[in-house]
Amino acid sequence: MTTPEIAPLHDDLTFHGPLSEERAARLIRGLQPLDEKHVLDVGCGWAELLLRTLEAAPTATGTGVDRDATAIAQAQANADARGLTARVSLHAVDVQQWRPEQPADVVIVNGASQVWGGDPLQHTANALAAARKLLNPQGKLLLGEGFWERPPTEEQLAAMPIPRDQYGTVADLVDLAHEHGYRLLAVEQASLDEWDVFENGHALAWERWLRDNPDSEHADAVRAKADTQRTYRLRGWRGTLGLAYLTLQAP
Ligand SMILES: C[S@@+](CC[C@H](N)C(=O)[O-])C[C@H]1O[C@@H](n2cnc3c(N)ncnc32)[C@H](O)[C@@H]1O
Repeated sequence: MTTPEIAPLHDDLTFHGPLSEERAARLIRGLQPLDEKHVLDVGCGWAELLLRTLEAAPTATGTGVDRDATAIAQAQANADARGLTARVSLHAVDVQQWRPEQPADVVIVNGASQVWGGDPLQHTANALAAARKLLNPQGKLLLGEGFWERPPTEEQLAAMPIPRDQYGTVADLVDLAHEHGYRLLAVEQASLDEWDVFENGHALAWERWLRDNPDSEHADAVRAKADTQRTYRLRGWRGTLGLAYLTLQAP
């Protein structure tokens, strides 16, 4: 919970990103075989994708890392409720302060290339390089990463906090992965429906709170936050920013 107490995103969303259950299941199938393998999810949020991966692979183990303690607490509760406690270890820590306990056979970086910090224009390259160091030889990286579905206009760029050069096309993204030594096994992209489900769920808790707390001293700040996010979405990235899911083979 936050101050003021606004419900966490996991109350309204299955995944913290534009991802349907169907696509999640297909992405997990693309990571098989996972027998006896170790899966690391960096910036895992409440770790729904990691937990589903472990449910699909009964002898696999997993590690999830995220600096959001509320999300990690939810991940742990979900893991416990689904009988995964012994196979998953979840850490509420900044990735930049964290050291892995073991190499991974699969690394998931879904909407989280920013966790290694630095210049936003280098986030994707940093994530590709960092994941290689975390992977066993011939491991796989599942990378959920932004790209421009169409070139953003000046007006859109002015309405959202994303520099034009942070992203290129899907082809540029795949080329960058190849420059880092990976081979592309599969690529797909979030649909507008998946984006809308995500963005609608993202805004819902703020709107519920505003409806229920019109006279709160925090109302102006919460309304401003919700309005800013809506502007980012509807005047900025909707239909223009994409999210590609790359399944990548490491050397
Ligand atoms: C868009 S969310 C994606 C979450 C998750 N991968 C998913 O698909 O549901 C990005 C996540 O990165 C986490 N994050 C951002 N910077 C981080 C850092 N330096 N260390 C650890 N986690 C970080 C955030 O807390 C957030 O949960």
